[in-house]
Amino acid sequence: MKPPRKLHIKSYGCQMNVYDAQRMVDTLAGEGFVETASADDADLVILNTCHIREKASEKVYSELGRLRVTKDEAARSGRQMSIAVAGCVAQAEGAEIIRRAPVVDIVVGPQSYHHLPQLLARAEREGRALETEFPVEDKFGFLAQPKPEAIRARGISSFVTVQEGCDKFCTFCVVPYTRGAEVSRPVSKIIDDVTRLADNGVREITLIGQNVNAYHGEGPDGRTWSLGDLLYRLARIPGIVRLRYSTSHPRDVDDTLIAAHRDLPEIMPFVHLPVQSGSDRILAAMNRRHTADEYRRVIDRFRAARQDIAFSSDFIVGFPGETEEDFAATLALVTQIGYAAAYSFKYSPRPGTPAADMQEMASAAEMDGRLERLQGLIDDQQSAFNRAAIGRTVDVLFERPARNPGQIVGRTAYLQPAHVMASSDIIGQILPVTIDSLERYSLLGRLASASEAAQAHSRIAAAQVTTGA
Ligand code: 5AD
Ligand code: SF4
Repeated sequence: MKPPRKLHIKSYGCQMNVYDAQRMVDTLAGEGFVETASADDADLVILNTCHIREKASEKVYSELGRLRVTKDEAARSGRQMSIAVAGCVAQAEGAEIIRRAPVVDIVVGPQSYHHLPQLLARAEREGRALETEFPVEDKFGFLAQPKPEAIRARGISSFVTVQEGCDKFCTFCVVPYTRGAEVSRPVSKIIDDVTRLADNGVREITLIGQNVNAYHGEGPDGRTWSLGDLLYRLARIPGIVRLRYSTSHPRDVDDTLIAAHRDLPEIMPFVHLPVQSGSDRILAAMNRRHTADEYRRVIDRFRAARQDIAFSSDFIVGFPGETEEDFAATLALVTQIGYAAAYSFKYSPRPGTPAADMQEMASAAEMDGRLERLQGLIDDQQSAFNRAAIGRTVDVLFERPARNPGQIVGRTAYLQPAHVMASSDIIGQILPVTIDSLERYSLLGRLASASEAAQAHSRIAAAQVTTGA
């Protein structure tokens, strides 16, 4: 029997890359590959890249510089190492990658991962292989399913891609070009995936997609189902205790999604809803197709359905033409909404996007100043949100042993890490935890007594009743 070949895969960027990496591992397992934690002893190294901002893109080339040395060392000891570039940089730059970094053997775009075995064979035969087409067949039908042992090893929380690509064409964003047009997977396939995960111990599912609430998949009844319809169905799968979804566009929040938040305790009351800017002028230039007030109204609809809901968002500072007044509108929006968390980025012009041709870039100093002010405000809101948990009893889904011996770590509904001293038997369970303190971003607590738990649950029930659910 041939010894297994070793695969090292490094992902950058979004959650979908994390998910895609797992599917590549599953597909290559069929070719006799096992994962290794280090590039040094790998026979195949895959860089699963991100093109969203220039910094993310450039990381690939510095990593390839390091890998050239590793590959040379492997060759000196008589071992052949192959290097593949996957992900959105592969899609956007194609053959340019091999020109800039001849150490690369394979370039594969996100729609072609199911062809990896053939691409490997072609690279062995011909020295190089490149595929960045958008093939007609659905890659999901061809990517291998994870083995039960692989699901169990990955833990109790899992991503499932339900849609991919985006038709929104925000003027700053490369996604519609790198991930292509919006495509939704059929409901039955998603039910199969979630059922298999649940049967192997997964308790929490995060449905992912670049524009996840644009989901419009074919239902088993022949109708087109929305994300809300899908969530109602998935909540019925035995074993699934928590559902999340990411990333949403404010324009695609429909009444079924709001109703699902009201009706389904499985949907976590924590929604990532990027707004990018609080200025209508900049939102229009970004082609976001909504105003700041329309965004506020979407937030209000969620809050009316579920009083304990919290939000996170993405922001871009220094978009071309952004004035101090526009930026002040962003700060005002953040102050008004009050986020539990948010990510903010300096605008980065991306080749091929409409905004890359816009003039009037803010200076580097202006951008730095705005980013610092916005992040300061967001940090204050996040700290206040985290501190508010102290003294309360909250539900925690336990995930794994923590670094400190004897501690188990899990997450609250708001994705806050929470640590308790307990036996590892609690992994996979949702248990009430009384929070004693906050250490940076982590909550520290203890498993709640029966009376603390009862009080916490009657408070949650009361909150639901007052919203008129
Ligand atoms: N420059 C800076 N940030 C960007 N994002 C997307 N494109 C760019 C860009 N060109 C941010 C947006 C998006 C998040 C994933 O990345 O805020 O929501
Ligand atoms: Fe990019 Fe999101 Fe806009 Fe789509 S909706 S173009 S993924 S920022």
